[in-house]
Amino acid sequence: METIIKTEDLHFSYPSPEEGTTPVVLDGVSLEIEEGSFVAVLGHNGSGKSTLAKHMNAILLPSGGTVYVDGIDTADDSRLLDIRRAVGMVFQNPDNQIVANVVEEDVAFAPENLGVPPAEIRQRVDDALKAVNMYDHREHAPHLLSGGQKQRVAIAGVIAMQPRCIVLDEPTAMLDPIGRKDVLRTIKELNRTRGVTVVLITHHMDEAAQADRLVVMAKGRVVADGAPKAVFSQVEELRKVGLTVPQTTALLWELRQEGLDVPLDALSDEECAQALFKLLQ
Ligand SMILES: Nc1ncnc2c1ncn2[C@@H]1O[C@H](COP(=O)(O)OP(=O)(O)O)[C@@H](O)[C@H]1O
Ligand SMILES: [Mg+2]
Repeated sequence: METIIKTEDLHFSYPSPEEGTTPVVLDGVSLEIEEGSFVAVLGHNGSGKSTLAKHMNAILLPSGGTVYVDGIDTADDSRLLDIRRAVGMVFQNPDNQIVANVVEEDVAFAPENLGVPPAEIRQRVDDALKAVNMYDHREHAPHLLSGGQKQRVAIAGVIAMQPRCIVLDEPTAMLDPIGRKDVLRTIKELNRTRGVTVVLITHHMDEAAQADRLVVMAKGRVVADGAPKAVFSQVEELRKVGLTVPQTTALLWELRQEGLDVPLDALSDEECAQALFKLLQ
């Protein structure tokens, strides 16, 4: 498997207005993101998730250590355009990401800026809108769409750049449950059917549970990294870093504390129900 993003002992501090006080925000993060994978990043507020995300397409540059995107050192400013083409970013607030008054013009904006020929842009925009299931809304006004629809238009804008990887920083945080579901389904489809690498930053356990791999951050470090089932089974460790676990895991954990023989990794509702059913047999 090829690595699309690699951080090596990444350290970062924001420049401080007060002399001498530069709190360390990323404290030695070493991660390799495999091409084609779906990685969720989970962590308490302030644990450094957004700061890490911004290193993944050179919005921020390391204070120490190195970040490689598609083998390119992000500190090499002569390659910035290649880096931005390889990794697209989607942020929390869809309203801040919409730039045009018509959906399809909005999606065309980024590839136009990247210098994609006009004839190809049409094709890319249609394709991207179909990928996020917003093609029928291509002539609509973005500001009249729901939050989830707006966020899918923002994702289409990134897809139109044909990135190999898409980093989404809490893209569902401002959405209602239906919008959240639609956006997550879209992200999963992009990963599964188009092979786009996905890095999803989220504080929703149920979203993180759907990834192939789950990275947990606390105080600027990676404190857990593995398959969601394995990571969520570390209930006490997660609680120590201020995270709750999915309701299924929490329930099974409590039952185990009471001495019942249930697995901790029955993560989905169905698996959890089956585990409980077995107890009754
Ligand atoms: N632009 C900034 N300037 C100074 N400090 C910042 C800035 N952005 C974030 N921080 C600080 O960096 C730490 C990590 O923030 P962030 O990466 O946003 O964490 P998360 O996304 O996990 O909530 C926090 O202590 C936050 O206050
Ligand atoms: Mg954040």
